[in-house]
This record gives sequence, C-alpha cells and structure tokens, in this order.
Amino acid sequence: MDLSKRIDRAMSAAIAQAQGPEGAAPGRLGAALNYAVTPGGARIRPTICLSVALACGDDCPQLSDAAAIALELIHCASLVHDDLPAFDDADFRRGKPTVHLAYSEPLAVLAGDSLIIAAFDVLARVPEGDALRALRLVRLLARHTGMPHGICAGQGWESEKTVDLRAYHRSKTAALFMAATQMGALASGHEPEPWEELGARIGEAFQVADDLRDALYDENALGKPAGQDAIHARPSAVEELGVQGAIRRLHDILGGAIASIPSCPGEAQLAQLVRLYAERMTPVAPVRA
Ligand code: IPE
Ligand code: IPE
Ligand code: MG
Ligand code: MG
Repeated sequence: MDLSKRIDRAMSAAIAQAQGPEGAAPGRLGAALNYAVTPGGARIRPTICLSVALACGDDCPQLSDAAAIALELIHCASLVHDDLPAFDDADFRRGKPTVHLAYSEPLAVLAGDSLIIAAFDVLARVPEGDALRALRLVRLLARHTGMPHGICAGQGWESEKTVDLRAYHRSKTAALFMAATQMGALASGHEPEPWEELGARIGEAFQVADDLRDALYDENALGKPAGQDAIHARPSAVEELGVQGAIRRLHDILGGAIASIPSCPGEAQLAQLVRLYAERMTPVAPVRA
C-alpha cells in the first residue's frame, strides 16, 4: 500500500476513535478534531517515520502505523495551538480558516488537547505483545513533545528575552523529525539512538526552509499567512543570516544528512528519499519582493 494511503487510513481510524460513537461526545468538538487533521498538509513526519520503519524491515506494521499517526496528531495539535491568538493569531492554515476561527477559541484549545491525548492513546492501543516497544515509543514521543527539549520548549523560547536560534529550531521543529526517524526505527525493532542525527538534520533544514518560504513567498503560495517571522519579530534563519546565508545553512545541514543514515537493509532507498526531500525543500525563485 502506498504510504499516503496507509497514513490516511490510520489517521481516519484514530480520529474516529477520538470522536467516539455518534451522540456520545460533543459533536462540535468531534468535528473540530477532523477539521484540524484534514485535509492533511505534507504529512512529512509520518512519511519519514514509515520510510525509516520500512528501511528497517517494518516487522510490526501496526506499531509503525501507530508511531506515524501519533506523530502527525501531535504535529496537528501544535499547529492548532500555534495559530491561536495567544500565539501567532493566524487566520489561515492549509488554505482554510484556522480551527479557532472555524469553531471558536475554546474548541481550538480543546481540539489541540484532545489530539495530544489521542496521540498517546494510539500508542497505548497496540497489541499487548508489542507493549515493550510501545512503551519505548511513548517515552520518545513525550521527550520530543514536551519540556525540556520538545515542541513545548520550542514554543516557550518565544517568551524568553534572548534566544539561541539553533536551540529554538531544534526543539520547536527538529524535535518531531528526530522523533520521526527514531520512532520509525524503534517500531521495527532497531535501536533509536543512531537515528537521531538524521532526524535532527532534516528537521533543522526544514525549519530554515520554512523561514525562507515565510520571507519569500506569499499567502497563496503558502496556504498560510506569509511574512510572520518579521511581523512577530521572531528569531529566524533569514533574520539572522540573510536569504543567501540561510540557503547556505540549508545546504550545509542537508549535506551531512545522507552520510548520517545508519546502516540498515533499506539504506540506499532511504538515501534516495532524503535526496528528494532536500531538492523539494530548497526554495525556488521568490514570488514576493
Ligand atoms: C509547519 O509544518 C510548521 C513548522 C514546524 C514549520 P508543515 O509545513 O509540515 O505543515 P503541514 O503539516 O504540511 O501543514
Ligand atoms: C509552527 O511554528 C508551530 C510549531 C512548530 C509548534 P511556526 O509558527 O513557525 O510555523 P507556521 O508558520 O505557523 O506554520
Ligand atoms: Mg509560531
Ligand atoms: Mg505560526
């Protein structure tokens, strides 16, 4: 089955589980959950997770699916909360009104909370025979989501007076990419540690590319508001290094990514995939002056 179908199917099942039987739970909150995850964006984190799982043999597909979906649920929750007025106060996400505009602020807070819980629930529901790997997956997901090194820490840096750009990017964005490579390997029974560097490199490059797109593209091209880093005076690779400097940083980071792929049965195929991501990430000609 192609990866996007695999991800869509597992995501629909997780959302149906979180919504519960019709009439049994608040319907608007249930609808907000679905709204927050569909249509999906690039689904890059679960795709990387499953690609690593496959490169490592994918001996337990139900667990790999659970790991991939748990990651995407956390990512979607982080976007719902990030768009709230308390954070970036954004009107558009993935080409449609943000959850708090479509459903209300209280429902957006609750939808984000519910998606985070659903992520851990997905991992807790795997067959008991896989409980040890699932427990280790829960630990990895918690580490890369909360404090002191996960997304929560990353967002927390925005409330500090001085910010180390690399630490900020590493926890705000790279953390979930580290989780993606490590959880994919662990779901297939491989040790996760050797996979951290690959995730860190893809994640850091991804955020530099996102900063470049934010500075160079318009709202139509992005499907979300543009120029946000400058508007919110947020630290960004473009602000620190300029456009050309940020592009150089992107190439430097990605240069080491392929070399960092640990030895595994599907190493060559995975290297090909990373090369493809690297090409896609590099911004093309700017559409906004
Ligand atoms: C956006 O992530 C937020 C960042 C961490 C930069 P994505 O660009 O992966 O968002 P979707 O899921 O494709 O919409
Ligand atoms: C996205 O960060 C949220 C998280 C990574 C938690 P940004 O605010 O930089 O990304 P966009 O531009 O809203 O997608
Ligand atoms: Mg933000
Ligand atoms: Mg934002």
